Amino acid sequence: MAGLIIAVDGHSSTGKSTFAKIIARKMDLVYLDSGALYRAVTLYAIGAGLIAEDGTVDAAQLDRHIAEGKVDIGFIRDTDSGTYVIALNGKSVEGRIRMLDISSSVSRIAEIPCVRRHVDSVLHRYGAQGCVMDGRDIGTAVFPDADLKLFMTADARVRARRRLLEMEQKGEKADFEAVYRNVLERDYIDSHRQMNPLRQAPDAVVLDNSDMTIDQQLAWLSDLLKQRFGITI
Ligand code: DC
Repeated sequence: MAGLIIAVDGHSSTGKSTFAKIIARKMDLVYLDSGALYRAVTLYAIGAGLIAEDGTVDAAQLDRHIAEGKVDIGFIRDTDSGTYVIALNGKSVEGRIRMLDISSSVSRIAEIPCVRRHVDSVLHRYGAQGCVMDGRDIGTAVFPDADLKLFMTADARVRARRRLLEMEQKGEKADFEAVYRNVLERDYIDSHRQMNPLRQAPDAVVLDNSDMTIDQQLAWLSDLLKQRFGITI
Protein backbone atom coordinates (compact mmCIF):
# COMPACT_ATOMS: atom_id res chain seq x y z
CA MET A 1 0.00 0.00 0.00
CA ALA A 2 3.06 2.26 0.13
CA GLY A 3 2.69 5.36 -2.01
CA LEU A 4 -1.10 5.47 -1.98
CA ILE A 5 -2.79 8.74 -1.13
CA ILE A 6 -6.19 8.61 0.56
CA ALA A 7 -8.12 11.88 1.00
CA VAL A 8 -10.76 12.15 3.74
CA ASP A 9 -12.69 15.40 3.44
CA GLY A 10 -15.97 16.63 4.83
CA HIS A 11 -17.81 18.78 7.33
CA SER A 12 -16.57 19.38 10.86
CA SER A 13 -17.51 16.90 13.61
CA THR A 14 -18.22 14.03 11.23
CA GLY A 15 -15.48 11.78 12.63
CA LYS A 16 -13.02 12.29 9.75
CA SER A 17 -9.90 11.97 11.86
CA THR A 18 -11.12 8.81 13.60
CA PHE A 19 -11.82 7.25 10.22
CA ALA A 20 -8.62 8.48 8.63
CA LYS A 21 -6.58 7.02 11.51
CA ILE A 22 -8.27 3.63 11.15
CA ILE A 23 -7.65 3.58 7.39
CA ALA A 24 -4.00 4.55 7.93
CA ARG A 25 -3.54 1.73 10.44
CA LYS A 26 -5.23 -0.84 8.22
CA MET A 27 -3.26 0.21 5.16
CA ASP A 28 0.03 0.83 6.91
CA LEU A 29 0.12 4.45 5.76
CA VAL A 30 1.05 7.63 7.60
CA TYR A 31 -1.90 9.65 8.94
CA LEU A 32 -1.64 13.41 8.45
CA ASP A 33 -4.12 15.92 9.91
CA SER A 34 -4.18 18.96 7.63
CA GLY A 35 -6.45 20.97 9.94
CA ALA A 36 -3.74 20.76 12.60
CA LEU A 37 -1.45 22.86 10.40
CA TYR A 38 -4.09 25.61 10.15
CA ARG A 39 -4.41 25.38 13.92
CA ALA A 40 -0.62 25.73 14.33
CA VAL A 41 -0.62 28.87 12.14
CA THR A 42 -3.46 30.21 14.30
CA LEU A 43 -1.41 29.60 17.42
CA TYR A 44 1.46 31.52 15.84
CA ALA A 45 -0.85 34.40 14.88
CA ILE A 46 -2.25 34.65 18.41
CA GLY A 47 1.27 34.62 19.91
CA ALA A 48 2.46 37.28 17.47
CA GLY A 49 -0.51 39.52 18.29
CA LEU A 50 -1.91 39.35 14.75
CA ILE A 51 -5.52 38.66 15.78
CA ALA A 52 -7.50 41.63 17.10
CA GLU A 53 -10.11 41.43 19.90
CA ASP A 54 -12.92 41.34 17.34
CA GLY A 55 -11.30 38.37 15.56
CA THR A 56 -9.89 40.33 12.61
CA VAL A 57 -6.60 38.92 11.38
CA ASP A 58 -3.75 41.10 10.15
CA ALA A 59 -3.30 39.04 6.98
CA ALA A 60 -0.63 41.31 5.47
CA GLN A 61 1.61 40.94 8.54
CA LEU A 62 0.98 37.20 8.69
CA ASP A 63 1.94 36.94 5.01
CA ARG A 64 5.17 38.79 5.82
CA HIS A 65 5.98 36.53 8.77
CA ILE A 66 5.39 33.44 6.58
CA ALA A 67 7.61 34.86 3.81
CA GLU A 68 10.34 35.57 6.39
CA GLY A 69 10.24 31.89 7.49
CA LYS A 70 8.97 32.66 10.98
CA VAL A 71 6.02 30.26 10.76
CA ASP A 72 7.74 26.90 10.51
CA ILE A 73 5.00 24.25 10.73
CA GLY A 74 5.29 20.52 10.24
CA PHE A 75 4.88 17.06 11.68
CA ILE A 76 7.32 15.35 14.01
CA ARG A 77 7.29 11.67 14.85
CA ASP A 78 6.35 10.91 18.44
CA THR A 79 8.73 8.12 19.38
CA ASP A 80 6.36 6.65 22.02
CA SER A 81 3.27 6.29 19.84
CA GLY A 82 4.95 6.20 16.41
CA THR A 83 2.37 8.74 15.20
CA TYR A 84 2.98 12.23 13.90
CA VAL A 85 2.36 15.25 16.10
CA ILE A 86 2.17 18.83 15.00
CA ALA A 87 5.10 21.18 15.50
CA LEU A 88 5.44 24.94 15.39
CA ASN A 89 8.97 26.25 15.09
CA GLY A 90 10.37 22.90 16.15
CA LYS A 91 8.23 22.35 19.27
CA SER A 92 5.24 20.02 19.62
CA VAL A 93 2.01 21.99 20.00
CA GLU A 94 -0.32 18.99 19.71
CA GLY A 95 -2.28 19.62 22.93
CA ARG A 96 -2.32 23.39 22.70
CA ILE A 97 -3.86 23.59 19.21
CA ARG A 98 -7.03 21.76 20.27
CA MET A 99 -7.98 24.47 22.78
CA LEU A 100 -11.00 26.71 22.46
CA ASP A 101 -9.21 29.97 21.56
CA ILE A 102 -7.61 28.25 18.59
CA SER A 103 -10.88 26.60 17.50
CA SER A 104 -12.62 29.97 17.61
CA SER A 105 -10.10 31.72 15.32
CA VAL A 106 -8.87 28.98 13.00
CA SER A 107 -11.50 29.27 10.28
CA ARG A 108 -10.60 32.96 9.79
CA ILE A 109 -6.94 32.01 9.46
CA ALA A 110 -7.75 29.20 7.01
CA GLU A 111 -9.41 31.68 4.62
CA ILE A 112 -6.21 33.61 4.01
CA PRO A 113 -4.63 32.66 0.65
CA CYS A 114 -0.99 32.95 1.80
CA VAL A 115 -1.78 30.65 4.74
CA ARG A 116 -3.40 28.09 2.43
CA ARG A 117 -0.40 28.16 0.08
CA HIS A 118 1.98 27.71 3.01
CA VAL A 119 -0.02 24.80 4.46
CA ASP A 120 -0.39 23.16 1.03
CA SER A 121 3.36 23.19 0.42
CA VAL A 122 3.94 21.54 3.82
CA LEU A 123 1.24 18.93 3.11
CA HIS A 124 2.88 18.08 -0.20
CA ARG A 125 6.27 17.75 1.44
CA TYR A 126 5.00 15.25 4.03
CA GLY A 127 2.24 13.48 2.10
CA ALA A 128 3.45 12.99 -1.46
CA GLN A 129 5.10 9.65 -0.66
CA GLY A 130 1.79 8.17 0.51
CA CYS A 131 -0.57 8.99 3.36
CA VAL A 132 -4.10 9.18 4.64
CA MET A 133 -4.85 12.88 5.00
CA ASP A 134 -8.01 14.46 6.39
CA GLY A 135 -9.26 17.99 5.82
CA ARG A 136 -11.59 20.04 3.66
CA ASP A 137 -9.86 20.35 0.30
CA ILE A 138 -7.53 17.36 0.10
CA GLY A 139 -9.36 15.56 -2.72
CA THR A 140 -10.20 18.76 -4.58
CA ALA A 141 -7.07 20.89 -4.25
CA VAL A 142 -4.16 19.38 -2.30
CA PHE A 143 -4.11 15.91 -3.91
CA PRO A 144 -6.69 15.97 -6.72
CA ASP A 145 -5.26 12.68 -8.03
CA ALA A 146 -5.65 10.84 -4.70
CA ASP A 147 -6.20 7.08 -5.02
CA LEU A 148 -9.34 7.18 -2.89
CA LYS A 149 -11.47 10.14 -1.82
CA LEU A 150 -14.02 10.00 0.96
CA PHE A 151 -16.44 12.80 1.71
CA MET A 152 -17.96 12.63 5.18
CA THR A 153 -21.07 14.49 6.20
CA ALA A 154 -23.93 14.39 8.73
CA ASP A 155 -26.91 16.48 9.71
CA ALA A 156 -25.75 19.69 11.45
CA ARG A 157 -27.85 19.04 14.58
CA VAL A 158 -26.38 15.56 14.91
CA ARG A 159 -22.89 17.02 14.59
CA ALA A 160 -23.69 19.69 17.18
CA ARG A 161 -24.85 17.00 19.62
CA ARG A 162 -21.62 15.03 19.08
CA ARG A 163 -19.53 18.17 19.56
CA LEU A 164 -21.42 19.08 22.74
CA LEU A 165 -20.84 15.60 24.14
CA GLU A 166 -17.11 15.83 23.39
CA MET A 167 -16.93 19.21 25.12
CA GLU A 168 -18.82 17.92 28.15
CA GLN A 169 -16.47 14.95 28.37
CA LYS A 170 -13.53 17.38 28.45
CA GLY A 171 -15.25 19.32 31.22
CA GLU A 172 -15.98 22.34 28.99
CA LYS A 173 -19.32 24.10 29.49
CA ALA A 174 -21.50 24.80 26.46
CA ASP A 175 -25.12 24.93 25.48
CA PHE A 176 -26.62 23.16 22.50
CA GLU A 177 -27.85 26.21 20.59
CA ALA A 178 -24.45 27.92 20.82
CA VAL A 179 -22.64 24.79 19.61
CA TYR A 180 -25.20 24.33 16.82
CA ARG A 181 -24.70 27.93 15.68
CA ASN A 182 -20.95 27.40 15.71
CA VAL A 183 -21.29 24.26 13.56
CA LEU A 184 -23.39 26.19 11.01
CA GLU A 185 -20.98 29.10 11.04
CA ARG A 186 -17.99 26.82 10.43
CA ASP A 187 -19.82 25.09 7.57
CA TYR A 188 -20.56 28.47 6.04
CA ILE A 189 -16.99 29.76 6.32
CA ASP A 190 -15.49 26.46 5.10
CA SER A 191 -17.71 26.29 2.03
CA HIS A 192 -17.77 29.98 1.11
CA ARG A 193 -14.13 31.01 1.25
CA GLN A 194 -12.63 32.09 -2.06
CA MET A 195 -9.66 29.78 -2.18
CA ASN A 196 -10.28 26.03 -2.14
CA PRO A 197 -13.61 25.96 -0.31
CA LEU A 198 -15.04 22.75 1.12
CA ARG A 199 -16.56 20.85 -1.82
CA GLN A 200 -17.29 17.26 -2.55
CA ALA A 201 -14.95 16.06 -5.32
CA PRO A 202 -16.96 14.54 -8.20
CA ASP A 203 -15.14 11.22 -7.74
CA ALA A 204 -15.47 11.12 -3.92
CA VAL A 205 -17.38 8.37 -2.12
CA VAL A 206 -19.91 9.96 0.27
CA LEU A 207 -20.44 8.73 3.80
CA ASP A 208 -23.41 10.38 5.53
CA ASN A 209 -23.16 9.05 9.06
CA SER A 210 -26.11 10.98 10.59
CA ASP A 211 -27.89 7.74 11.48
CA MET A 212 -24.97 5.36 11.62
CA THR A 213 -23.26 3.82 14.62
CA ILE A 214 -19.49 3.47 14.63
CA ASP A 215 -19.89 -0.27 13.95
CA GLN A 216 -22.05 0.43 10.90
CA GLN A 217 -19.49 2.90 9.62
CA LEU A 218 -16.70 0.38 10.10
CA ALA A 219 -18.71 -2.23 8.17
CA TRP A 220 -19.17 0.33 5.37
CA LEU A 221 -15.44 1.07 5.40
CA SER A 222 -14.60 -2.60 5.42
CA ASP A 223 -16.66 -3.19 2.24
CA LEU A 224 -15.11 -0.18 0.55
CA LEU A 225 -11.50 -1.16 1.32
CA LYS A 226 -12.16 -4.71 0.19
CA GLN A 227 -13.70 -3.56 -3.04
CA ARG A 228 -11.04 -0.92 -3.82
CA PHE A 229 -7.86 -2.46 -2.47
CA GLY A 230 -8.66 -6.07 -1.64
CA ILE A 231 -8.02 -5.42 2.05
CA THR A 232 -10.02 -7.21 4.73
CA ILE A 233 -10.36 -5.36 8.00
O1 DC B 1 -10.50 19.79 11.05
P1 DC B 1 -10.16 20.92 12.00
O2 DC B 1 -11.32 21.41 12.81
O3 DC B 1 -8.96 20.65 12.84
O4 DC B 1 -9.78 22.11 11.03
C1 DC B 1 -9.40 23.35 11.54
C2 DC B 1 -9.78 24.46 10.57
O5 DC B 1 -9.00 24.41 9.39
C3 DC B 1 -11.24 24.51 10.13
O6 DC B 1 -11.69 25.84 10.21
C4 DC B 1 -11.22 24.09 8.69
C5 DC B 1 -9.82 24.43 8.24
N1 DC B 1 -9.28 23.48 7.29
C6 DC B 1 -9.22 23.85 5.97
O7 DC B 1 -9.66 24.95 5.62
N2 DC B 1 -8.68 23.01 5.05
C7 DC B 1 -8.22 21.81 5.42
N3 DC B 1 -7.69 21.00 4.50
C8 DC B 1 -8.29 21.41 6.77
C9 DC B 1 -8.84 22.26 7.68
